[in-house]
Amino acid sequence: MAAKSIKKAVIPAAGLGTRFLPATKAVPKELLPIVDIPVIQLIVEEAVASGIEDIIFVTGRGKNKILDHFDDAPELEQKLMALGKEDLAKKLKKTCSLAKIVTVRQQEPRGLGDAVLSTKELVGDEPFLVLLGDDLVDSARPCARQMVEVYAEYQKSVVALMRVPEEEVPLFGICGGNSLGERTYDLDTMVEKPSVQDAPSNLGIVGRYVLEPSIFKYLEETELDEDGQLQLTDAMARMMKVEGFIGYEFTGDHYDAGDKFGFLQANLAYALKRRDIAPRLRAYLRDLVQRH
Ligand code: UTP
Repeated sequence: MAAKSIKKAVIPAAGLGTRFLPATKAVPKELLPIVDIPVIQLIVEEAVASGIEDIIFVTGRGKNKILDHFDDAPELEQKLMALGKEDLAKKLKKTCSLAKIVTVRQQEPRGLGDAVLSTKELVGDEPFLVLLGDDLVDSARPCARQMVEVYAEYQKSVVALMRVPEEEVPLFGICGGNSLGERTYDLDTMVEKPSVQDAPSNLGIVGRYVLEPSIFKYLEETELDEDGQLQLTDAMARMMKVEGFIGYEFTGDHYDAGDKFGFLQANLAYALKRRDIAPRLRAYLRDLVQRH
C-alpha cells in the first residue's frame, strides 16, 4: 500500500499565553519575534519545508494579528520598493505565499485537545501534522519532516519526544514504551505532567505530532480534566491502546518560545547563527558576562 502523504498541518495558536503576560495582553505570543521573524512564521516555514501545502491555524479572541501577518500588504510593499528596499518587499511577499492558510476559531481556550478537535471538518479523513504555535525546533532536517518520514515508515500516529531533565518531568507529557530501533519507540504509556515517581521515563512530548484522523473520535470521547481542559495527551493515550502510537526522539534543539526563558534562549541561539548579528552579539555577551 502506498504511504499516505501528509499535506495538511494544524497550528494551534488560541492559548492565552499567561506565562508571558503582560507582553501577551495585546500581542499574541505566537507573533513575538525571534530576532526579526515571528515564532509562528518559523513554524509555518518548518511545515512547508516538510511537504505541507495547507495550514489550518486555530485562533481565538485577540489573535487576528496572526492572520494579518500572513496577509498581502501591497501598500507597504510599494512603499518599500519606492525606498529602494526591494529585497525586503520580496521577503514580505514570500511570507504570504508560503502555503494555503485557513483558520478556525476556538470559542474559548479549552485546552490543546479542544483546539485540535475544532479542526475536524477542515482536516477531513486524512493524517495530518500538528505543530504547536509556540514550540520551536531548530534542526538541519526540519523536525516536522522527521516526523512525516517516521509516519511513512510505520503508518501510525507519531509524537515527537526528547529527554528532559528530572526536575522538568512534571512539566511535560511523558511517554514510556519499547525501543523499535534508534530513536523510535512503540509507546505503551502516556501521562500528562506526572510526578517524577510516577513517570514511566524522562521522554517528554514536544509540540510536533502526526495524527491519524481517528484522533477526532478519541477526542470526542475524552472527558475534560479537573481544570475543564480537553487534553490532547489523554485522547492520544486512548488511541495508543487501540491503534498503537510511535514515539520519535527527534534531532534538533527545542525551545519553548511561550516561556520567558525558552524565548530568551531561542533569541540568543538564532541570533548567534545570523551572520549580520552574531559577531557583535558574541562580543557583547562576553562583555556582559564579565560585568555581571
Ligand atoms: P500552551 O499550553 O503552551 O499555551 O499551548 P497557553 O495556554 O497559551 O500557555 P500559558 O501557560 O497560558 O502561557 C501550546 C499551544 O497550543 C495553543 C497555544 O496557543 C500554544 O500555541 N493552545 C493552547 C490553543 O490553541 N488552545 C488552547 O486552548 C490551549
